[in-house]
Amino acid sequence: MAVKEKRKTETVHEKGASIPEKMRAAAIDRFGGPEVLTIHTLPVPELDTGEVLIAIDTAGVGVWDAEMRAGWVPDGHPKFPLVLGTDGSGTVVAMGSHIRRFKIGDSVYSYSFYNPKGGFYAEYVAVEAEKVAPVPRGLELREAGAIPTTGLTAIQGIDDALKLKREETVIIHGGSGGVGTLAIQFAKLREARVLATASGADGVELVRSLGADAAVDGRDDDIEAAARSFAPEGVDAVLALVGGEALDRCVATIRSGGRLAYPNGVDPEPKKRPGIRVIAYDAIANVREFEHLGMAIEAAKLRVPIAATFSLGDAARAHERLAQGHVLGKIVLRTG
Ligand SMILES: NC(=O)c1ccc[n+]([C@@H]2O[C@H](COP(=O)([O-])OP(=O)(O)OC[C@H]3O[C@@H](n4cnc5c(N)ncnc54)[C@H](OP(=O)(O)O)[C@@H]3O)[C@@H](O)[C@H]2O)c1
Repeated sequence: MAVKEKRKTETVHEKGASIPEKMRAAAIDRFGGPEVLTIHTLPVPELDTGEVLIAIDTAGVGVWDAEMRAGWVPDGHPKFPLVLGTDGSGTVVAMGSHIRRFKIGDSVYSYSFYNPKGGFYAEYVAVEAEKVAPVPRGLELREAGAIPTTGLTAIQGIDDALKLKREETVIIHGGSGGVGTLAIQFAKLREARVLATASGADGVELVRSLGADAAVDGRDDDIEAAARSFAPEGVDAVLALVGGEALDRCVATIRSGGRLAYPNGVDPEPKKRPGIRVIAYDAIANVREFEHLGMAIEAAKLRVPIAATFSLGDAARAHERLAQGHVLGKIVLRTG
């Protein structure tokens, strides 16, 4: 356990904006539907030596947040009130004494799954500095706050799990969602050829606009026929962002020796198939991984589709919108 250095962090506070003792946060006191997510007044988290205190501008809203709200937490021992939110962006307002990488006022974004000091649906969050990075050039805070989780998941799927190379063919299945909209752009950055499956005609239009070379509606169209004309010898790789029967059809088009990657959480889990490599992975956040992501974001001139923006006080409404489905890109909460 890191040693608390209250006196030293207070010194840092003095240089920055004044930090209140209490903050607004969207939290739950019990598991349930969107209605259990309400505004609480909670203490601003205290800093440990290796942490950064961020005044949140934007928090991402993901399907994993809804799973936590409904009853799933990684350690099985929730501490209520539980502030939701795994990622976001904002401004550094205080730092532990060990931190040299940031200064007060820096614009940053961060991913910390089930953050020990409370999540990002709040005015302030205290996060281990390793999991915080400067906002890449070209992104506004609203965009940066939408993508720490999905951006790391997308770039690590393309570069580390699939190791996608120039001229290779890839199906990005579930391309119109949070991870998929970014993965398409990273695959194009690596000069791969991309067939994206999307949900609905508007989803197909979106993935084409993000650079997919070919696109199909994965709920209606014949994926196998589209893949055959896209890559007659079979595709080299599939990045699976949604499970089920349509994914099985994508997997059937992978050439012998090809590969299938998916982030854990894709449900139902993809079936194994002889002759292809299957790679399950989790997004990793640390300094090196954020550098990797940042370089890719800047090189790709990343576009961040945001389907809807809600205020922190409307977090329950944001979860209702999430539950309706068909979110093209991401939903975000803003504190301002
Ligand atoms: N382990 C990790 O570190 C990690 C990190 C991030 C994400 N994940 C997991 O990765 C998955 C993707 O996350 P996400 O944020 O991208 O989710 P998402 O935004 O819900 O994206 C999934 C997309 O797939 C679409 N879709 C559904 N059925 C389809 C079909 N038959 N054909 C084509 N598209 C279809 C959905 O459209 P509709 O909404 O219209 O159905 C949606 O746009 C989730 O399971 C998440 O839990 C894991």
